[in-house]
Amino acid sequence: MSHTQDVSNSTIEKLGFDPRNLKVNSGDLNRELAKNYISASDEEIKQMLNELGLTTLEELFAHIKDDVKFSSKIPLKAGLSYDELVTNLDELSKKNKIPTNFLGDGLPQFKIHEIVPYVCNIRGLTTAYTPYQPERSQGTLNTLWIYSSAITALTGFEAINASLYERSTCLFEALKTGVRLARKKTKVLVSEAIYPQDRSVLETNAAHTGLDILWAPINKESGLTDFDKAKELLEADKEIATFAFGQVNSLGLLEDVDALTDLCRDNEVFSIAIIDPMILAKGGLKKPSEYGSDKAGATMIVGEGQHLCLDANYGGPGLGIFGIRFNDANKNQIRQTAGRYVGNAVDMNNQECLAMVLSTREQHIRREKATSNICSNQSFVASIAGAALLALGDEGLADKLATARQNTQYFLSNILHLDGVDLAFDAPYFNEVVLKLDKKVSDILASNDKLVAGKDISGRHNLEGNLLKVSFGDQHTQVELDNLIALFNENFAANSESEFFMPEIPQTYIREDAPGIANFTTDEVKAFYDKCGSLNVSPDDAIYPLGSCTMKYNPYVNDWAAGLPGFTMAHPDLEDKYTQGTLELLYHIQEDFKAITGLPGLVTQAVAGAQGELVGIKMFQAYHADRGNADTKNVILIPRSAHGTNPATAAVAGFVPGKVDGKQVGIITLDADERGQIDLEQLKEIIKTDGERIAGIMVTNPNTAGIFEENFKEVAELIHSVDGLVYMDGANMNAIAGIVSLEKLGVDACHNNLHKTWTIPHGGGGPGDAIVAVSSKLVDYIPGTQVEKLADGTYKKVRAPKCIGDFHRHDGNVAHKVRAYTYLKALGQDGVVAMSQIAVLSARYLFQKLKDVYPMLPHGADETPRMHEFIITLSDDMFSHIEKSGTLKNQIIAKVGKLFLDFGLHAPTVAFPEVFGLMIEPTESFTKKELDDFTDVLVAIKNVLSDSPEVLQTAPHFTAVSKVDEVWANKNLKFYRDLDKLWDLPSDEISPKKLRHKDTLEVVKMIQDKHKELKQ
Ligand SMILES: Cc1ncc(COP(=O)(O)O)c(C=O)c1O
Repeated sequence: MSHTQDVSNSTIEKLGFDPRNLKVNSGDLNRELAKNYISASDEEIKQMLNELGLTTLEELFAHIKDDVKFSSKIPLKAGLSYDELVTNLDELSKKNKIPTNFLGDGLPQFKIHEIVPYVCNIRGLTTAYTPYQPERSQGTLNTLWIYSSAITALTGFEAINASLYERSTCLFEALKTGVRLARKKTKVLVSEAIYPQDRSVLETNAAHTGLDILWAPINKESGLTDFDKAKELLEADKEIATFAFGQVNSLGLLEDVDALTDLCRDNEVFSIAIIDPMILAKGGLKKPSEYGSDKAGATMIVGEGQHLCLDANYGGPGLGIFGIRFNDANKNQIRQTAGRYVGNAVDMNNQECLAMVLSTREQHIRREKATSNICSNQSFVASIAGAALLALGDEGLADKLATARQNTQYFLSNILHLDGVDLAFDAPYFNEVVLKLDKKVSDILASNDKLVAGKDISGRHNLEGNLLKVSFGDQHTQVELDNLIALFNENFAANSESEFFMPEIPQTYIREDAPGIANFTTDEVKAFYDKCGSLNVSPDDAIYPLGSCTMKYNPYVNDWAAGLPGFTMAHPDLEDKYTQGTLELLYHIQEDFKAITGLPGLVTQAVAGAQGELVGIKMFQAYHADRGNADTKNVILIPRSAHGTNPATAAVAGFVPGKVDGKQVGIITLDADERGQIDLEQLKEIIKTDGERIAGIMVTNPNTAGIFEENFKEVAELIHSVDGLVYMDGANMNAIAGIVSLEKLGVDACHNNLHKTWTIPHGGGGPGDAIVAVSSKLVDYIPGTQVEKLADGTYKKVRAPKCIGDFHRHDGNVAHKVRAYTYLKALGQDGVVAMSQIAVLSARYLFQKLKDVYPMLPHGADETPRMHEFIITLSDDMFSHIEKSGTLKNQIIAKVGKLFLDFGLHAPTVAFPEVFGLMIEPTESFTKKELDDFTDVLVAIKNVLSDSPEVLQTAPHFTAVSKVDEVWANKNLKFYRDLDKLWDLPSDEISPKKLRHKDTLEVVKMIQDKHKELKQ
C-alpha cells in the first residue's frame, strides 16, 4: 500500500467532493491521497531498487558528481497534509478582498456559464495530451472544432487556429505573419490606440529581431486612430507590410474599421483587426470578414477570448484568438501562420473525423525555419470557450451583450448631468467609456474602498486630463450599478441645467446578421462534452508514456484551489491592497522555485515552455547589449537532439541562421558523442574559432534521451569563458528537482514547464505554463513584475531595475501558479526530492526490464544510466522484417506507436528526438504493478511485430475512428462546420479500459483477427 492520507469532514465540506471516492482510485490505490502523489508502495520501491541492484534511492544519482548537487536539503518547508493544504489554500484565497469593480480594460468581466465548471471537471478533457494521435483524441479534436467553428460564426473568418497564448502575443504573431506574407518588407504599422500592455509585449518581442514597428498616432481630439496620419505613413513608406488596429480601442472607442481596412487595401498592406469576440454577437458590432466599403474584410484577426469562459483570474490563462481567411479567393496565406489548426479528416473506413492539420509549419518539424516557436497553446481554454459559446447560442450571447450595453447607457444617463463629469471623447463606444473628470481620479477611487469605479488611465497615450475608464459586462447587479452612480453623486455636484450628449453607434458599425450558433440546452451540451471526454485517455487511469511530456497524475485539489473565487475573481488591475492572497502566493512561487533551482532570480510571466525559452534568450540579448556586444554576439549553440522549440526560439528571438562573411551566424548545431552527451571536443573547437561570437548555448538537461549531461558544468565553464550565457531547457526537471543545483551547474536561465514536472494538466495541448529561473547575471533584466515582501508583512509588485519589458498583457497564467503552488506545498522539502527519485526509479526499472527486449538509443550507451525517460528502437533485422511486410521504414515507428492504442494506452513520443525511436517516460505516478503491466504490453508489441508485422498497416484497431488519413486531411482543408445542430460522435470499438484489462495475448489475437477482417 502507498501512504494514503486521511481527510477530515471539514476538508470534504470545503472541497465539495470526497477525495476518498474519486474515479482515479482503484482497490487500495488512491492517487489523490497518496503521499507526494506517488502510487508505488514502499515494498514496491524496494523491489524495484532490488531489481536494479541498489539499496537506496540516492544511489540512482550516484553517477552525477557531487559538485553539482545540493550539499544540504533545499530550503523549502515540510509538505502539508491534505487537510492542511486545503485550509492553507482556502485561507490564502480569502486574503484577496475583491471589491465590486468596473475595471475591464482589455480583460472584460462577464458572467461565466455553468457549462464551464462542468467541462472543467471532465478529466478525459482536462488531463489529455495534445491530439497528435487523432484516433485516440477525437474528444479533444471535437471540442477544438467547436471552438474554431464558433469563432468562425462570430467573425466570419474561415480559419481559426486552436488558440495562441493571449491577445498581445497573438498580435505579435499576426504582425510577423504579415511580414512573411509581404515577403521582403520588414516594417509593420500598429495603431497607438492599442492597450499599453499589448504595446509593451510587441516591443519586447520585436527587440533585436529586425522587425520595425511604426506607430499610427491617436488623434487627441477624437481619441481614435488618426486616419490622416496613418495614411501619410502608409503612403510614404512602402516597406510597411501590415497595419493592425482595434475595432474597439483602448479608450473604449469604436474605430471606423471600414475606412481603416480600405486604407490598407489602397496601400496594398495586410490588415489585422483586433477584435473582442463577445462584441460580435447578434446586436453587436460588424464582423471583421465584412470590414471595408467592399465588404471584403480584414486579412487577419486577433483577439482575447478569456472572458468568454473564465473570470479575470488575475489576468490568465488568456485565450489568444487568431484567424485568417481561407476561401476560394485565398487558400495560401494560412501556410504562413502560427499555431495548430483542427481540420476535417476521414479514417480508413471513410468515416468522417477530425485531425490536426498543417503541422508541417510547426516548430517540431521545421525547427528554426518554423513560422513561430509556439508549442503548447491555450487548448483547454479554447475548449471551454467553445462549450460556453455553444451553451449560450446566438440568443444567450446577444442577451449578455445587450445587458453590457444597457448597463453602460444606464450609468452614463445617470452621471453625465454631474458637474465635472464628461465623456472624454465624442466618438461612439459600446460598453466601455472614458470619463474626463475635474478631480484627480485617484481621489475618486480612494473615496470608497469597497467599490473600484474603473481604471485610472490619466496620462495614457499622453492624453491630458483626469481620465477614468469604466467598463461594463453582465456581472454587475442593479444594486452595484446604483452604488457606482451613488459614488459619482457623492463626489460631484448635480447640475440640473446640464445637457449632455451620448453618441449613437452608426448603423454601418453594427453587425447585420446573426452568427448562427443554435441554442442548445445545457444538458445537451453537457452530454456532448461528456462523450468527448470518454474518447480520450487520461493519466488518471493508466501509464501515459509520452517521453519529454511528463504525463503524471494531476491532483484534483490543485483544480479545486485554482477555482476558489478569491483567486478567480481578482482582476489584475486591482491595487495590491485588494489582492494580497494572490501576491503572497506568487511570492512563494518565486521563492520556492529559487530554492528548487538554486538560482537567485525568477520570472513568473511566461505562459509556456517555449515562451520561457524566449524570455531567457531575450534576457541574454539584453545582457550582451548592455555590455556593448549586441552585434558581435550572434550565435546560439544548440545540440541536434534539442526539442524543436529551442532552435525555433533562438530564430524567433533574432538568431536567424545564415552566413555572414562566410561564417555561420544564428544557430550552430552541436552533435552528441557516442554516450549521447554533448560532444565536448566539437564545443572546444567552436570556442576556439568562434568564441567571441557566442551569445549562449541551449541545452536540455537531462537530455531527451533521458541522459544527464555529465559534462554540463564543463560546458557551462567553456561558454562563460567567452562571456556567453547558458540556457538549460528544464522540461526534464522532474528527474533532478531538489537534487541538482542549477547554480552549481552554471545555468544562467532555465524554464520549468509547470504542465510537466509540476502537475498542471495538459488540457489537450495547453495551457502550458513556465517559470524561468535566472542567475545573478540576469536578475536585473527580469521581465514582468516580481513580488516583494515588505517589512510589515504585506506584498507588493515591483519591476526589475533593467526590466526588458513584458511577454504577456498581464502577469501570465496566474491560475496555473495556484495549481503549482498547491502541488509544491503538498510536496514540501522532502516531497520534491521523492518525486524526482521515484520518477527516475520508475524509468530506470522499466529500462532494465526492456533493454533485452528492445535496442535502446543512443546505440552503445546502455551502460549510461537513464534518468526519467529513455528511447527504445527496433533492431535492423526487425526494421527489414517489417519493411518486407509492406510498411516503409520511415513510417514504422509512427505505426508502432499506434499499437499502444490497441492495448488501451496512449502512444509514447514517436520519432523524436530520434527519427527511429519511441521515447518512454513513466513518471512517479504509477505502481510497480502498472509498470510491469506496461512491460508486458511492450513484450506483446515486440511479438506482434515479429509474428504479424502486417498489422501495422491497419493499426490502431479498436479506437472510435480507425487509422486517420492525415494526408487526405491536409489536402482537403476545412476548418469549421455550421453549428446549427450537434452531431453524432463516434464510439470506441472497444474501450481503453476494457483493453487494458484484457490479457495481452488475447489482445494480440484480437489485433491479428481485426487486421484480417479489415483486409478482406
Ligand atoms: C524538452 C522540451 N522543451 C520545450 C518544450 C516546450 O514547452 P511548451 O510546449 O510548454 O512550449 C517542450 C514541450 O514539449 C519540451 O519537451
